Amino acid sequence: MDGTIRENTVDEIKSRCNIVDIIGGVVRLKKAGSNYKGLCPFHKEKTPSFVVSEEKQIYTCFGCGATGDVIEFVQKYYNLDFPEALQKLADSCGVTIESSYAGTKNKDELYSINKEAATFFFRAFHKTGSPAYEYMKKRGINDEVLKKFGIGYADTEWDSLYKHLKEKDFPEEKLVDLGLISSSKGKYFDKFRNRVIFPIINTRGKVIGFGGRTIGEDMPKYLNSRESSVFLKKNNLYGLSVTRSEMTKTGYAVLVEGYMDVISLYQRGICNVAASLGTALTENQAKLLKRYVSNVVLAYDSDEAGRKAAFRGMDILHREEFKVKIPHMSEAKDPDDFIKAKGRSAFIKLMKEALPYADYKLTAIKKEVNMKTTEGRVDFLKKAVEVLKTLGPVEADIYIKKLAAETGISEGAIRAEMDIGKENKKEEKPRPGGDGENKKKGKATVSRLEKNAIKLMLADESYINDLIDYKDMFQSVAGKNIFEAISSLSKKDERPDLEKLSGMLEPEDADVLKDIQETIILAGKEEEVLKECIRAYHEAANKKREKELIMMISMANEEENSEEIKKLTEELMEIQKKNRNGGK
Ligand code: UTP
Ligand code: MN
Repeated sequence: MDGTIRENTVDEIKSRCNIVDIIGGVVRLKKAGSNYKGLCPFHKEKTPSFVVSEEKQIYTCFGCGATGDVIEFVQKYYNLDFPEALQKLADSCGVTIESSYAGTKNKDELYSINKEAATFFFRAFHKTGSPAYEYMKKRGINDEVLKKFGIGYADTEWDSLYKHLKEKDFPEEKLVDLGLISSSKGKYFDKFRNRVIFPIINTRGKVIGFGGRTIGEDMPKYLNSRESSVFLKKNNLYGLSVTRSEMTKTGYAVLVEGYMDVISLYQRGICNVAASLGTALTENQAKLLKRYVSNVVLAYDSDEAGRKAAFRGMDILHREEFKVKIPHMSEAKDPDDFIKAKGRSAFIKLMKEALPYADYKLTAIKKEVNMKTTEGRVDFLKKAVEVLKTLGPVEADIYIKKLAAETGISEGAIRAEMDIGKENKKEEKPRPGGDGENKKKGKATVSRLEKNAIKLMLADESYINDLIDYKDMFQSVAGKNIFEAISSLSKKDERPDLEKLSGMLEPEDADVLKDIQETIILAGKEEEVLKECIRAYHEAANKKREKELIMMISMANEEENSEEIKKLTEELMEIQKKNRNGGK
């Protein structure tokens, strides 16, 4: 069910589904006064504190605080989103949900076709002598698991599925749309031939597509359904329909790359597993997973491609606020190989020893640089700080200490670098069309000095040349943007008039410019302002260099870099003297 749900459908479902019946179906309820009481399904308890009110049609648990109406109960109990819960209730009370989405009917038919195809493949798989069955047995998967995942077989004929679906009167173009059939010279052919079939089922129990592994040597090794209105790879995870309850139970998910990894881990008792569908993990997949868990073990293949995919996937999960861990599976190609060779407990041990996000990142960065040189260490620190900045304050603090102990870089230097980062972030230039967040950050105030400089250039073009090399004196985003606009006009030999400039600027910056033009009065102090601008530029540049030098010195190794330390210290003393004298 897609699209918006009409308000009255919700009301109708609520009025038709008595909360006492719905909850009573899964929780033993006893009448207690005008209410019903039972053991709360959302937390462990021995004496009932879970109360259902028939009159109010709500439930409340006085133990854990869970509360809501019938829809919210179904959502929470079965781990469903709102439309899914509605659908479930609608099914049980005989309401048809009308969706405003015109394609719903069409989609229903596509789902039916896929379901019919899945059944067809499934039957072929379980026929005696099916090569796919033999194949999966050889790979160590038992009947129960094969059935649970609805594993099927596409035979070697050219058109057996086509004939079957034709018999059921499904229109050809839909079969083609779903990528089950292809046509050539007016004839139709099955797309999946001589393959083990992995039906891809979404969390609403609909068959949305298929993956097929060749049993022979055909290419590609895995063939997947083409994307269609019911199958968007980026929105789904393979296995989730079976494994999500296990995920909620264990509190974490194991994310793998391949269909076989899911089946194989499941077979060996790691049941909280799912796979991204042969593509890089997407934000939507992360969000889907977030419905069930907040912890993920990212167990991708150990080859270069897998490591790269894990690296990206880990960032996506981190951004969606998962706790991510990455196991190091050096002796095996993928989780399937690993667990087959070493067994379940070895896999669990591997997961326990898996590196958390930050450790993994920091280790990887350390490998990229040469920690023996000062430059390498500065480089490392800069990159490490980028990682630390994505952590919460408490976690960041732990890693700062850890990093300091491991690398000999002082805690102070790391914290200083993090602060430098903070300032830079504030100054981030908002990109046109960038997100609102960025724009908010960009609202650093324009200093009096910047305003004076801008006014100076507007008032008399000759000052543009004087100031063009001092771009860094502009610290605010608006100041920088206005300066860029002025200098780009001047490079084209155009007069920086207010109207032209405003047209080039974002509205926010244009407002600042207008304000400067109207309120700043230089009144014969032009030369003085110019001098002050140049002095401010030097001062800012010196301050920046001073910070850099302090950082480098604090990170240099006294024995290995004594020569360098001496040079840097001399430069630092020089700079500090200048800074004391106001930049000269
Ligand atoms: P792998 O090549 O690692 O296969 O692809 P695997 O999972 O180890 O499979 P087995 O053990 O050889 O049977 C991982 C995943 O990448 C996608 C599939 O989703 C596969 O499960 N893939 C791979 C494709 O979509 N097409 C391909 O040709 C290969
Ligand atoms: Mn494999």
